[in-house]
Amino acid sequence: MASNLKFTKELITFLGKAVIALLETLVFTFIPRPRKNVAGEIVLITGAGRGLGRLLALRFAHLGSVLVLWDVNKEGNEETCRMAREAGATRVYAYTCDCSQKEEIYRVAEQVKKEVGDVSILINNAGVVTGGDFLNCPDDLIEKSLDVNFKAHLWTYKCFLPAMIANDHGHLVCISSSAGLIGVNKLADYCASKFAAYGFAESVFIETIVQKLKGVKTTIVCPFFINTGMFEGCSTVRPFLLPILEPEYVVEKIVDAILKEKVYLYVPRFLYFAMVLKSVLPVKIALLLSDFMGVFNIMDGFVCKKKKH
Ligand SMILES: NC(=O)c1ccc[n+]([C@@H]2O[C@H](COP(=O)([O-])OP(=O)(O)OC[C@H]3O[C@@H](n4cnc5c(N)ncnc54)[C@H](O)[C@@H]3O)[C@@H](O)[C@H]2O)c1
Repeated sequence: MASNLKFTKELITFLGKAVIALLETLVFTFIPRPRKNVAGEIVLITGAGRGLGRLLALRFAHLGSVLVLWDVNKEGNEETCRMAREAGATRVYAYTCDCSQKEEIYRVAEQVKKEVGDVSILINNAGVVTGGDFLNCPDDLIEKSLDVNFKAHLWTYKCFLPAMIANDHGHLVCISSSAGLIGVNKLADYCASKFAAYGFAESVFIETIVQKLKGVKTTIVCPFFINTGMFEGCSTVRPFLLPILEPEYVVEKIVDAILKEKVYLYVPRFLYFAMVLKSVLPVKIALLLSDFMGVFNIMDGFVCKKKKH
């Protein structure tokens, strides 16, 4: 009897809170969510030497943030640093850091804490891709994919999350991928690393919820293919549903999601629908649909650069 009463009470509480959350979501569908102010926030971007990382740095420069730029490519990173200053950033710090090396991450992170301060927005963006049939992928490149695209996220969280918790203030941003939602032909190790990054970021997000760390936010980003050069040669056969995205557009969406403290961002929107289809369709139909969408052959034109940073 007592347990029935407890169950009923918990059910009513849950339903009440769910209705309030639903109403809140509905309201924010029509009224844009307020954007937070990131002026003065210390924003660390890994892989800032080109592509999305560089564009993110320029956007945060415009927003008045203090920039900490990491990349294994010293020249590219210093060029981003120079461009960020031109874009109005007054405090920009470039560090050469190979994110595939745990000890190097720990060493450079200590330097950042001493020279700049506590990072309050951490954007794990650095990434590499092998590309090709799994059995033809060299072991060292598979390990590199996992080290840069996933394990670096573990080590950077260890370095910077404690201060965010202590200050009850911070934002963890995981740049995963649509390849972190759906397996892709010829991207097995990349997908594994992106699924892992997603799962890790989502699990720590749940930890922050359970521990009532209201000031520590998470944003997980899953874009489809982007025209940055990383996936040079890849093309889509259904551009109206799954276009190859322009980097400026993706960065605009990412920054908007961070400022609105959105937890999940999939670009383009069709990916939200694709995830529902993946969960509900019989496998044979899902495979037929993937084939129709050209997803099986998306890597066919890939220009393999065998990046070995
Ligand atoms: N380009 C796409 O189609 C696409 C799609 C979805 C997700 N993503 C993800 O977005 C992120 C950015 O991709 P991008 O298209 O800008 O790629 P990019 O190749 O243009 O830039 C990646 C950056 O990461 C740096 N980097 C590589 N290895 C590193 C290491 N060991 N340590 C430090 N820095 C390192 C590179 O030097 C480079 O500056 C990646 O995580 C990528 O997986 C890209």
